[in-house]
Amino acid sequence: MQEKLRQIRERAMQEIASADSLAKLNDVRVAVLGKKGELTAVLKGMKDVSPEDRPKVGQMVNETREAIENSLGETKKKMEALALEQKLQKEVIDVTLPSKRSGFGHAHPNTIALEEVERIFIGMGYEVVEGLEIEYDYYNFEALNIPANHPAKDEQDTFYINNDIVLRTQTSPVQVRVMEQGKLPIRMIAPGRVFRSDEVDATHSPSFHQIEGLVIDKNITFADLKGTLQEFAKELFGADTKVKFRPHHFPFTEPSAEMDVTCFKCGGKGCRFCKGEGWIEILGCGMVHPHVLEMSHIDPKEYTGFAFGVGLERIALLKYEIDDMRLLYENDSRFLSQF
Ligand code: DAH
Repeated sequence: MQEKLRQIRERAMQEIASADSLAKLNDVRVAVLGKKGELTAVLKGMKDVSPEDRPKVGQMVNETREAIENSLGETKKKMEALALEQKLQKEVIDVTLPSKRSGFGHAHPNTIALEEVERIFIGMGYEVVEGLEIEYDYYNFEALNIPANHPAKDEQDTFYINNDIVLRTQTSPVQVRVMEQGKLPIRMIAPGRVFRSDEVDATHSPSFHQIEGLVIDKNITFADLKGTLQEFAKELFGADTKVKFRPHHFPFTEPSAEMDVTCFKCGGKGCRFCKGEGWIEILGCGMVHPHVLEMSHIDPKEYTGFAFGVGLERIALLKYEIDDMRLLYENDSRFLSQF
C-alpha cells in the first residue's frame, strides 16, 4: 500500500511539473483526486484494510492527497501569475507615442469672408441685422419700387410660395423692414441667404448669400457712399485697391451705380484673373430712391441715404481665388480644409 501511494504521488508530481496549461493541470486533478481518480480508488479500498492498520493507512492517504493538492494549488497560482504577466506585457501602452489627432473643423470660407465684412462695417459704426428668408412680395419687390408687371421683376427668377409670398431674391427687403421701424438714423448691414430659380453652374446657384447695406441720416450724399465703399474695398482687398463707379440702374436707388475694384492680382494692368480688364465688379449701390423712403414713412426732404448690395460668394471666390462657386457648397473637406 505504501509503495502504491508513493507511486501515485510521484507520478502526479511529475505530471504537475510537466503540465503547460491550466487545462492540463485540471486533467491531473481529475485523474488523481476526481471521483474516479486513482487516490479516490485507494480511499474506497480502505474497507479491505484491517481495522488496526486503518488509521496509519488513512493518515498516509491524507498526506499524499495534501501534498498533491498543495502542488496543484501552487502550480496553478504560478501559471495564473505568468499568464497575467504575459497579458500585461502584450497590452503595454507607450505613453510617449503621439496621440491620435481629433478632427477639428473650422469656419467655412463663406463664413470667414462674412466675418471679415462684418468686422469692417462694425468698425464704421454699423449694426448687423437679419431679415427673413421667406418674404412678402411687398417687401421683396413692391416696397423697393418694383411694382407688379415691372420688367425688373423678370430679371430675378423667383421661387413663389403663393401670390403674396416668395423666397427672397435679394437682401434688399431688409432695408424696408428696418426703415419701417422708424428709428433714425440707420447704419446697418444685413447678411443672409437669397434664392433665385437659377441653374447651377460655376457662377450661379439657386441659393446664395448677399450682404445688404443701408445708411439713412440727414445730409447723406453720394460722397458718403463713395467714401464708405472705397474704405470697405481697401480694407477687404488691400490698401492699394482703387475703386470705380459705373452708372447703372436699380429701381430702389437713384442714382444707381456698380462699383468695380482694381484687380488685386495684377494691380489693374489686366490679367487672366480679371479677364484682361484690370477691374472686377463687386457690388451694386446707389442713393435710396425718394419714393422708397416715402413708402417706408421717411420724409425724403429731411432724410437721405445710400444702399448697397454685395454677393458674399463673389467676395469669397475673389478673396481666395476660387474659380468655381460649386466648391463652396459641396462640403468636400479636402477643399474646405485649405482655408
Ligand atoms: N439687390 C440687388 C440685387 O440683388 C443688389 C443691390 C443693388 C442692392 C443696389 C442695393 C443697391 O442695396 O443699392 O441685384
